[in-house]
Amino acid sequence: MSMKCRFCENETNKFISFGKMPIANAFLYEKQFKDEYFFELAPTYCPNCSLFQLFYQPNPKLLFHENYAFFANTSNYMQKHFKDLSDSLIKNFNLTKQDLIIEIGNNDGGMVRYLNDLKYNCIGVDPSKNVSDYAKDLGVNMINKFFNFELSNEILDKYGKVKCFLSANTLAHIPDINSVFKGVKNLLDDDGIYVTEDPYLIDVFNKVSYDQVYDEHVFIFSLTSISNICKKYDLEVFDIEKLNTAGGSLRYYISKKNKKNKSERVIKQEMIEKEYKLYDYKVYEAFKVNCENSKKNLFDNLSKLSENSKIVSYGATSKTTTIFNYCNINRDLINFITDTTPTKQNKFSPGMHIPIFDYEHFNKNLPDYCFLGAWNHSNEIFLKESDNFSKKGKWITHTPDFKIFSK
Ligand code: TYD
Repeated sequence: MSMKCRFCENETNKFISFGKMPIANAFLYEKQFKDEYFFELAPTYCPNCSLFQLFYQPNPKLLFHENYAFFANTSNYMQKHFKDLSDSLIKNFNLTKQDLIIEIGNNDGGMVRYLNDLKYNCIGVDPSKNVSDYAKDLGVNMINKFFNFELSNEILDKYGKVKCFLSANTLAHIPDINSVFKGVKNLLDDDGIYVTEDPYLIDVFNKVSYDQVYDEHVFIFSLTSISNICKKYDLEVFDIEKLNTAGGSLRYYISKKNKKNKSERVIKQEMIEKEYKLYDYKVYEAFKVNCENSKKNLFDNLSKLSENSKIVSYGATSKTTTIFNYCNINRDLINFITDTTPTKQNKFSPGMHIPIFDYEHFNKNLPDYCFLGAWNHSNEIFLKESDNFSKKGKWITHTPDFKIFSK
């Protein structure tokens, strides 16, 4: 069975299945177990445009709704990351207070939150009502809708052209990628820019971080695939930045065609990706073998450790939903999960139904081992735990290889 690439409509085939998977962020109460929704999680890639994507995706309305569990403000490091980007945009791109700035998928604040505080002319667009309301309460002018071509026309009528588009960890979530870029092209001022960042495919391969694959991440981008998309809409990537956020990301600076000089960094990364052969099946086959080895390793090691020790997952993430379901890790192996997000606490993890408790519970029940479920926030977590858990127990990570270590 094949499917059509969501961008270029070329035929593509799945190359691995992670099996039956629940919605990654659908943390649930016991009474909801019987109605839990599952789908087959399987990625594919397009040999024509090199776009890595999900073979099946649940209806986005099941993912982004009034009870969306993900609040970006749970990480201080990420808050600083977005504030730093806002400051650098003002400095490097001469934004004035009259210029319209739109962030697509700004969640509970995003970058427009900081720019709005500095009295820049900002709009946030986010389809999830609860996070959108949160941003509105912070004073951000919010449009509680999916960003697409249709909405771009409404924005054009009401507000005019956009000088700066922003998005972070958003594009990967939007199946109708053509409509987003058509909307950006429609609204972007001739000398405007679009700055966007998402998990980077080559980092996923190098770190065997198959846990970046889940229902919301319909795409995992590379410079090659983003450039192919831009080309169709008379846009181009003029600069990039490699980031260590979200498990390894790439930030793309996009403008209208022939408006900016392509940086050395773009030229170098293009060469790296060319050598990687992202269109070639062999790359994906190797990733598949690495995922299967990683699964076996994690399951075997946790099974052995859990015979005599208590293991807790630090962070109830979308990533842990993929890891635990793909690797068959249940309550026998992980006693509980601790997470600071109130909307996840006192619920159970999707699929494997491991209980989730707050930080106080964690402190009263310090385990022997902590599995780094929120491994993308490791540095922040190690700092926080240096005088606490790290004094007593050991950490476990599965990426890039299984490792038990002290901090
Ligand atoms: P996130 O990075 O968004 O991962 P994903 O995209 O896979 O869902 O989620 C991080 C989670 O980790 C979030 O639910 C908050 C939690 N967390 C803690 O519980 N304690 C911490 O110190 C940090 C940094 C995060």
